[in-house]
Amino acid sequence: MPHDFMPGLAGVPAAKSAISDVDGARGVLEYRGIRVEELCASSSYLETAYLLLFGHLPSRGELSKWTEDVTRHRRVKFTIIDLMKCLPEHGHPMDALQAAVAALGMFYPGRNVKDVENNYWSAVRLVAKLPTIVAAWARLRRGDEAIPPRDDLEFSENFLYMMTESVPPAVWSEVFDDCLILHAEHTMNASTFTGMITASTLADPYTVVASSIGSLKGPLHGGANEEVVQMLKEIGTPGHAREFVVQRLADKRKLMGFGHRVYKVKDPRAVILQSLSVKLFKACGSSPLYDVAVEVERAASEHLDAKGIYPNVDFYSGIIYDKMGIDVDLFTPLFAMARVSGWLAHWLEQLHENKLFRPDQIYSGEHNRSYVPLNERS
Ligand code: CMC
Repeated sequence: MPHDFMPGLAGVPAAKSAISDVDGARGVLEYRGIRVEELCASSSYLETAYLLLFGHLPSRGELSKWTEDVTRHRRVKFTIIDLMKCLPEHGHPMDALQAAVAALGMFYPGRNVKDVENNYWSAVRLVAKLPTIVAAWARLRRGDEAIPPRDDLEFSENFLYMMTESVPPAVWSEVFDDCLILHAEHTMNASTFTGMITASTLADPYTVVASSIGSLKGPLHGGANEEVVQMLKEIGTPGHAREFVVQRLADKRKLMGFGHRVYKVKDPRAVILQSLSVKLFKACGSSPLYDVAVEVERAASEHLDAKGIYPNVDFYSGIIYDKMGIDVDLFTPLFAMARVSGWLAHWLEQLHENKLFRPDQIYSGEHNRSYVPLNERS
């Protein structure tokens, strides 16, 4: 039966899912029916990851087992660290992360995805180890040794500790943990769909996550957070923002961190991230990038509001990470180490009723051509 071709599959449902929902007209994002604003106010990243993966808020006992399991599995084998030491230090951290995650799968027998117990431990390992890999790469590439995780520190606190070898101020961990919540899941985005395609072949979860990481890297998706901060640094001062925006749009170039396939209002995650950045700057001093960003948003709104183009999740997140001293090219890996819980939630959900993704195409080429021998070709 012929179907209309929808470029980018815009508006085409690719799955039935109970994990998250976006109301793009009202700017509402819910995980398992709970709004992200409420999760940021009351939950932690690890609790939210449990909610996404297993469908309900954990009981006290479930949360303490989940937290203990993740905490115990944060370490990565020394061979993974050795492998990372062999990678070129100027390579992009997303490539290092993808390589390390693919390699992780070689250490853990995850081939039988019908084994519920094994799937649980795969999810624990991936949620636990991605931050360790990201922090390890941040240090290894400049010749420092990786810092092992500390079991007495909470998830976000431990990550920031592994980056710097010092326990961060409480406000940093709180803000960072909320950033992870906001990046944990977002319906049928490109990296989730990529993972679901891989998962539909019954590939193991390490391969699923490695393929999602590859998809997240691109500047139209997770890679935008890196480009936003580069753009804000290029603008330099709030006074230059308006001129930059006008010129960029006149050149028919996109403003990074703006626009979304689903949201036609300001992304609710951008709203929360903006207020988290203000919270951070109140505690730790201002950031010149924030003032530039606010001016860019103001100038852009005069041109883009009418088209339903507003700041998305990537617009204010990098300003926060920059203030914490994290290198710009590590921003997308931070996105990945949060989004892994969403990718895995979709993997687990899809396994219940798996069907191989094998879409159709509309052939636009020729038929019945003859093979021309090499010496007869012009
Ligand atoms: N700046 C200026 N114009 C834009 C922008 C933007 N950021 N985004 C879309 N438009 C315009 C675009 O030029 C086009 O205009 P026209 O109809 O006149 O040709 C129209 O809006 C539709 O754009 P599109 O690219 O066809 O729309 P889409 O739904 O395929 O794009 C998007 C969604 C996110 C790829 C796009 O908005 C974009 O490239 N944004 C910049 C990159 C970015 O911030 N990506 C992060 C996305 S959210 C988080 C994530 O997924 O990681």
